[in-house]
Amino acid sequence: MGREAASCFGRWFALQDFPVRAELTAVCDLRDDLLEWFGQVPTVQLRTRDHAELLASKNVDVVYVAVPHHLHEQLYCDVLAAGKDLLAEKPFGIDLAAARRIRDAAQASGRFVRCSSEFPFAPGAQRAIDYVKSGALGRVLEIHSGFLHSSDLDPAKPANWKRHSKTCGEIGVMGDLGMHTVHIPFRLGWKPQRVFAQLQKGFSERPDGQGGTAECDTWDNATLNCDVQINGQTVPMRLQQKRLAPGQTNSWHFEAIGTEGGVRYNTRDANTIFIYEKEKNGWIRIDLGHAMAFPVITGGIFEAGFPDLNLQMWAAYAAERAGELNNRFGCATPEEAVQSHELWDAALKSHEKKTVVEL
Ligand SMILES: NC(=O)c1ccc[n+]([C@@H]2O[C@H](COP(=O)([O-])OP(=O)(O)OC[C@H]3O[C@@H](n4cnc5c(N)ncnc54)[C@H](O)[C@@H]3O)[C@@H](O)[C@H]2O)c1
Repeated sequence: MGREAASCFGRWFALQDFPVRAELTAVCDLRDDLLEWFGQVPTVQLRTRDHAELLASKNVDVVYVAVPHHLHEQLYCDVLAAGKDLLAEKPFGIDLAAARRIRDAAQASGRFVRCSSEFPFAPGAQRAIDYVKSGALGRVLEIHSGFLHSSDLDPAKPANWKRHSKTCGEIGVMGDLGMHTVHIPFRLGWKPQRVFAQLQKGFSERPDGQGGTAECDTWDNATLNCDVQINGQTVPMRLQQKRLAPGQTNSWHFEAIGTEGGVRYNTRDANTIFIYEKEKNGWIRIDLGHAMAFPVITGGIFEAGFPDLNLQMWAAYAAERAGELNNRFGCATPEEAVQSHELWDAALKSHEKKTVVEL
């Protein structure tokens, strides 16, 4: 993900009339091959294996930290202690207790801190948010949000840190994919009051990439059936996070259905949104093109992809940090990250006891 961020800064000039200039000046990783890769980025002045050296640099204002989950708390807190602003990766700490400590450290530091979640910046997601906010749904009947891929279906895929609870977290796939599913619902005020969770594990053993095998113990699929309170009504909201979803590559979806309307978006059909029209009792398809919240030089008739969403998320971070968000959708806040962990924690308890857990 560090290289993905670098590619956003590499085409920062594509943002039109943008109030902030961003440049990648320093990079830290433990892997020499990656440090070497960053050598091709002309603005990079420092490449180091020691994050303390990066944090001591006067040329660094903001730090993006994308490391395995068991390292989040230490590195995020080091960034804050060094007086730098932070774009943290999800899940914002390995568990609820870590997330709360990071949130508290962020508050105490006064630094600008947000948590990564780029899919709400897709044109279809933005349109869906506007649609919901307009009240066009009428009484909300149900909500679905999910993030699905299939890469764990291949038992020959070597294990990495995401397949072990001690490095990925007990919350497994919820830590990996969950923030993506709750960012929009939380921002719309749809916070679960109770949850019934169904969790599934994948293959218990995988190649370790060095000729042996490694035990894998993380939850691979998580379906959370939640109740949310909307205008005095209890509404079912289903959140899905899956690494074992046949046929899916990296598809994020959001769907909200009401008595008067409905909206459906899936990054699988990245440029298409479906809107329910009550008079026709049918769904109409609208192709959106390159309709971005932060305008870019790319023409509106072109189509968007993952790197575009990531650039938009970075633009939202930079704009909000500069006080220039101007009512546009912002990155996930530390409080929202903590709330997501409260949900994952409740989901673990729900699954363990096979009962509904109140939040
Ligand atoms: N927003 C997204 O769409 C998205 C996608 C994938 C992963 N992520 C998140 O990004 C984070 C990293 O995931 P990834 O897939 O990039 O993992 P990765 O394993 O590909 O990369 C992690 C990097 O951290 C480096 N690292 C480990 N310890 C370090 C240390 N002490 N100092 C400096 N570097 C260190 C490793 O060498 C490695 O290059 C996780 O929090 C993950 O959940 C987000």
